[in-house]
Amino acid sequence: MKRVAVLGVTGSIGRQALEIVESHPELELAAAASGSQPIDGLAPLTQVGGDLTELLDRTEPDVVLNAVVGFAGLPATLWALERGVTLALANKESLVAAGELALQARERGGGLLLPVDSEHSAAFQCLEGRSTEQVDSLVLTASGGPFRGRTRDELEDVTPDEALAHPTWRMGPKITVDSASLANKGLELLEAHFLFGLPYERIEVVLQPTSVVHALVRFRDGAALAHLGYPDMRVPISFALTYPERAATPIPPLDFSQGLVLEFEPPDLETFPLLAVARGAGEQGGTFPCAFNAANEVAVAAFLGGKLPFLGIAATVEDTLTEVDGAPARDLADLLEADAEARRLAEKGMKVA
Ligand SMILES: NC(=O)c1ccc[n+]([C@@H]2O[C@H](COP(=O)([O-])OP(=O)(O)OC[C@H]3O[C@@H](n4cnc5c(N)ncnc54)[C@H](OP(=O)(O)O)[C@@H]3O)[C@@H](O)[C@H]2O)c1
Repeated sequence: MKRVAVLGVTGSIGRQALEIVESHPELELAAAASGSQPIDGLAPLTQVGGDLTELLDRTEPDVVLNAVVGFAGLPATLWALERGVTLALANKESLVAAGELALQARERGGGLLLPVDSEHSAAFQCLEGRSTEQVDSLVLTASGGPFRGRTRDELEDVTPDEALAHPTWRMGPKITVDSASLANKGLELLEAHFLFGLPYERIEVVLQPTSVVHALVRFRDGAALAHLGYPDMRVPISFALTYPERAATPIPPLDFSQGLVLEFEPPDLETFPLLAVARGAGEQGGTFPCAFNAANEVAVAAFLGGKLPFLGIAATVEDTLTEVDGAPARDLADLLEADAEARRLAEKGMKVA
């Protein structure tokens, strides 16, 4: 029996995680948390907002599924990593922001860190049991989002509703906007670096518009392993929660009877600069990834609130990164300060409508 704490239970990932937990008798929902929506009676222990580590202390779960959106997920990520409690991580922002601090906590705790992000779950499965010396490079796939193929001019006046109309995935609003700007792929590049210990030059991003190929790993002997499946987050959620058993899910296997064409194309880094900006932040290291994430969160919230044009998201993040010092965080207090400073700069520098 695995006792699972689902954080962000009211969200897109959280609701799908509940479905997986309910369908497996060996999984027990021990605790649940949301940010503001009421969840009384959903689990034996619940918490709405506040410091989620208090809920985790009371629960002592076997697995923490962190599906909180944004930097707010950080304390729970560090709580699980520090204690060696299995962490099923959807909240990529916390790993991106904490970077080295999170890796040090994982080292001390010695527990499992299982990615829930579909690309990273896929890469984890392609890599499993193989040393990184055997790896030539990792390839993360992206759908390209709703604005794939558009020019910069065509993005001047796009609305939040247009950005929220993702072609292949149904997700929460923040990650959907991140997918439209390619900031999500930037966050995933940073996440992959920290998860798999690969340098940035060995992590590539390619567009695969139908989101059937989730990731590929190229090995040094010329072979490449790919992970395929219909785009459905219940697969990586189930993989992480039932690891290493790989329990059954209701998702149908790939059907080739109607033919299946897989097309790949390079991302347009000029129209969607945030992928390259994230790569630059990763290469600079220190708290640059944390600042990238913080400025992006501020800008996405402003865009969704109708206060910032879509192209203003990238401009805000770029401007913020030129102003932060990016000094490495020695501890959580340093990291919180770096996040707060980047938010202040982003708020101040935003060219609001
Ligand atoms: N959705 C996907 O398919 C997908 C795929 C890959 C990765 N991810 C990652 O998974 C995470 C969640 O994404 P999502 O799409 O599920 O987001 P979402 O639908 O917006 O849900 C976010 C969840 O976080 C909770 N929350 C927000 N602030 C909180 C706080 N301060 N304390 C506690 N809980 C808080 C929300 O509670 P309230 O409802 O009460 O506000 C909600 O339950 C993100 O990091 C995202 O990048 C998502």
